[in-house]
Amino acid sequence: MRIDILTLFPEMFDGVMNASMMWKAQEYGFLDLHLHQLRDWTTNRHRTADDTPYGGGGGMVMRADIVVRAVEAVQAMGASAAPAYGMSPQGQLFSQEWAVRLSKLDRLLLVCGHYEGIDDRARQLVFTGELSIGDYVLTGGELAAMVIADAVVRQIPGVLGAEGGAERESLAEGILEGAHYTRPLEYRGLTVPEVLQGGNHAAIARWRRADGLRRTWDNRPDLLRRARLTDEDKRLLAKFAAEDAAALRRKAQG
Ligand code: ADE
Repeated sequence: MRIDILTLFPEMFDGVMNASMMWKAQEYGFLDLHLHQLRDWTTNRHRTADDTPYGGGGGMVMRADIVVRAVEAVQAMGASAAPAYGMSPQGQLFSQEWAVRLSKLDRLLLVCGHYEGIDDRARQLVFTGELSIGDYVLTGGELAAMVIADAVVRQIPGVLGAEGGAERESLAEGILEGAHYTRPLEYRGLTVPEVLQGGNHAAIARWRRADGLRRTWDNRPDLLRRARLTDEDKRLLAKFAAEDAAALRRKAQG
């Protein structure tokens, strides 16, 4: 897969893209990554890519003409045109489903805004869409592009070893993963759950599912509305609800 990133700060990507899984993905030919300096498409002497906003207000806005020129030039570089996504807190919320969907593309182009954002005509003219990585405002789209690239690349078949296969991850099922343990068996009085110490794979899978459900129930109940739940899952959730209700009653009684 080829990923192109348009940014005013390509140097921000050095550490993240040249370590660990992202580095391996490039080393083994799964990922063909190209970083582009947006200023290369400016035409003024000072290479400025931004200007003051129409309608007033603080901050600066990135010019549409420069962004559009850059996107079209980068799209023309490969064999196929790349869908272009702008990074923006106003975009659609990026998720595991998005990661899986985008990982099936031959090419992907991510455009990083900075300052107050990008003149909206760039979105209207050349963006396939806009993506947000969460309901908070970052200084620029670079960190969002790194998050998205990482989540997408690890979905490419072969990038993760057989052991940590992305398809086996719990979020794929719409719930959180169960807890993980490694040696030592006992640490500061805490012992690894007994079922994980044995070799009963069916029992281990059941334990992991139940622990993941418990964590989803406690930390991310919003996920349960869309998760694929079995009858056993539903029975466990009813048990968690009863346990919580009992704990509340005990607390109320002092
Ligand atoms: N740029 C600034 N904040 C962002 C966010 N939350 N997601 C994507 N791009 C952004």
